[in-house]
Amino acid sequence: MTATPPAAPASKTVYIETVGCQMNVLDSELVIGALKRDGYTLTDDSSSADLMLFNTCSVREHAEDKTFSALGRVAPFKLANPDKVIGVIGCMAQKDGDAIRDRAPYVDLVVGTGQLAKIPELVSIIRATRAPQLAVSLGRKDGDRQQVEMSFESYDPTRDPEMRSTPFQAYVRIQIGCDKFCTYCVVPSTRGPEQSRHPDSILNEVKILVDQGCKEVTLIGQTVNSYVYDHGDGRKTRFSELILRIHDVAGLKRIKFVTNFPKDMTNDLLDAVRDLPKVVKYLHVPLQSGCNDVLSRMKRLYTVEEYWEMLHRSRERIPGVAVSSDFIVGFCGESDASFQKSMDIVDRAKFKNSFIFKYSERPGTKAAERYADDVPDAVKKQRNHDLLMLQNERSLEDSRAMIGQAVEVLVEGPSRQGAKSAPGGIRQLIGRTMTDHIAVFDGPDRLVGEILTVDIAEASGFTLYGAARTGEVIGGDGAAPSRLPRRMGLSLV
Ligand code: 5AD
Ligand code: SF4
Repeated sequence: MTATPPAAPASKTVYIETVGCQMNVLDSELVIGALKRDGYTLTDDSSSADLMLFNTCSVREHAEDKTFSALGRVAPFKLANPDKVIGVIGCMAQKDGDAIRDRAPYVDLVVGTGQLAKIPELVSIIRATRAPQLAVSLGRKDGDRQQVEMSFESYDPTRDPEMRSTPFQAYVRIQIGCDKFCTYCVVPSTRGPEQSRHPDSILNEVKILVDQGCKEVTLIGQTVNSYVYDHGDGRKTRFSELILRIHDVAGLKRIKFVTNFPKDMTNDLLDAVRDLPKVVKYLHVPLQSGCNDVLSRMKRLYTVEEYWEMLHRSRERIPGVAVSSDFIVGFCGESDASFQKSMDIVDRAKFKNSFIFKYSERPGTKAAERYADDVPDAVKKQRNHDLLMLQNERSLEDSRAMIGQAVEVLVEGPSRQGAKSAPGGIRQLIGRTMTDHIAVFDGPDRLVGEILTVDIAEASGFTLYGAARTGEVIGGDGAAPSRLPRRMGLSLV
């Protein structure tokens, strides 16, 4: 009788849902990369996954509600299969810790933003013992600055190109945390003190990414332009110097960065954006409100006049720069007259686009302690709608102004419409311009991942339509990309 060799153990599967900002998208990519190295494979089938992770956001109540309803939906899976491990990671985990298990007692794992490196080890412990595991960092008042800083580890393990939505674009974290303490915002608590990453380690990561075929990096931080690395020997590396060093990486084609704090928009940075050809001419600089009283209650540290000055200076120094903003409507004490001031500024500022949010009171923030959330929800909704409609009109004007221009586009993949046609032929592709505008045009799949010129013929609110000059690929090597980008299970919910 011949003995049959023992079957190799089936690999475990992990499913992840991500809510929130680019920082969370990057964290999910890195967590999945680490779990893959630990033998997991990524699945988009939540019912059968051995490990289910929810990477969460606390910025607005709505984001938290989404996570709790997702958790409610998976409760039956856990009942049917008690070996399934369910984890809540990221901002909600840091903010609420074990309290998450009061509402969802079947959650096995709670891991905050500063402890993500521990996930593979904690999951193994749960598998072996079935005991719930919690890893969160210190609260901002739970120790001195150094202790709290040390409890939030920047999480930057080896990159895995398989885990990105396209192999030629990647986020790179250059800073964690935030020290601005805007009164409405939970981020300084959920992501801890502001800490800039060592420039050598950032540069190293960019080089690895470029070796992996990456053409565009987006540098991310809560207030990315506040980046400064103190070497501890009297030397400091400023953001503009960091960009200059990254710019020197051969093979890298584009550098983007988000999100900016208006007060830290210094001239050396603006000049770097203007002078360095790989840096996109696009600045996302949230204003939040057009009313000084509101800005002061938000503790945004600038006035509307100072924001205008920054805006003019940016446009003066970087001809053709596109600027976008965020606004919160219905913040505590926002009267009709103060809201009108946000309308006025959107009317005149020529933002490429604005992200508009209804104020959501967040427990533990200064605004929740100090001010009544006194704007009725119906009014917040109406203001959100009004500001968005006005911004949409301005965005349409901004897009239309580009008709007739030849723009340089990095081709990201088939558009939603193009994805319906079979690969291989000519189909509709989508890309981003150097001013972060979305452009669609027809072309063959081999253009994906390439930079080329598109002649813009038409424009709607947020999309430019044009024709690609396919004979020309700017800076390309002419070779077809090794594979088309594909959407991973890292869906942004
Ligand atoms: N309510 C509503 N919007 C908020 N933001 C941050 N905190 C809140 C809150 N409590 C918005 C700001 C910020 C964006 C990322 O989210 O506009 O720029
Ligand atoms: Fe939040 Fe303000 Fe920091 Fe932005 S700058 S993350 S809004 S506290």
